[in-house]
Amino acid sequence: MKQARPRRSVLYVPAANAKAMAKVENLACDAVIFDLEDAVAPALKAEARTSLQSYFRERSHDPKERVIRINALASAWGAEDLAVAAASSPTAILLPKVETAEQVLAARSALDAAGATAVRLWAMIETPLGIVNIREIAALGAHESVGLECFVAGTNDIAKETGLSIPAGRATMVLWLAQVVIHARAFGIDILDGVYNDFRNQDGFLAECAQGAEMGFDGKTLIHPTQIEPANGAFSPSEAAIAEARAVVALFSAPENVREGVLTLNGKMVERLHADMARRTLAKAGLPLEG
Ligand code: COA
Ligand code: MG
Repeated sequence: MKQARPRRSVLYVPAANAKAMAKVENLACDAVIFDLEDAVAPALKAEARTSLQSYFRERSHDPKERVIRINALASAWGAEDLAVAAASSPTAILLPKVETAEQVLAARSALDAAGATAVRLWAMIETPLGIVNIREIAALGAHESVGLECFVAGTNDIAKETGLSIPAGRATMVLWLAQVVIHARAFGIDILDGVYNDFRNQDGFLAECAQGAEMGFDGKTLIHPTQIEPANGAFSPSEAAIAEARAVVALFSAPENVREGVLTLNGKMVERLHADMARRTLAKAGLPLEG
């Protein structure tokens, strides 16, 4: 929410898939997560890491945020992944299956030791223990030196680890997702919704984007380029929301209302807090804040 730049659409790209990697520069997503973890089979881990290293060397600039998801530091691949990622200067490293604050701090120390102090950290929250410990993990958001900027909800892993299914509407999962959203907000961390697997189903995807936006997510993680445009739309203020925001700001800015705390607009109560929210909507849409 405090983000300086939008993170509406964040596309995973398996680092072992050269064809998909070659497309990234021309895609209109806000950020990309190059994946070395679960989208890469064990037999291809080393090859994927080398391809990613060349990719960053050859394409040193892309205005999008570029994030590298490494394997867990405790795994056989984690340390080498981190070394390559640190040397590639991505915007951030995304840590999978984070369950404790110590895991985040260990990654920070390793990055700093590698000289990558500017590289930020993102964390996947996708296990029961990660959700149970969310407060101590999120509290790191208050420490600038840790650089923990963003949480990513890993809905497929939550389903795997808990045994719950993911029906349309995600009734079984919103309770857990809401825990992550509220803790992210409490400590000023951005929060991205999980992926929608049925990527040919545009209606289902739009419905899930709308639900994610209503729940307060900043954006959605994506698996396919066709999901980018609908996600950008769903996580941007609508025309109606912009019009209403302008009206609220104008109402409280009118000379006759300067001393008013509560007013009526189109039959609804509006308070000064709604004017603050309206300015946030205008900022999100990249519009001037005064009507
Ligand atoms: N990033 C960039 N390009 C992608 C892409 C992605 N995530 N997913 C597909 N594309 C490209 C394909 O390479 C293909 O290119 P082409 O037209 O030159 O052949 C084009 O988009 C159309 O792809 P399509 O044929 O519809 O899908 P696919 O069968 O090639 O791939 C998936 C389907 C699901 C395997 C693929 O989208 C994917 O790997 N997504 C990411 C999965 C992932 O990272 N998971 C981990 C986190 S949950
Ligand atoms: Mg996962």
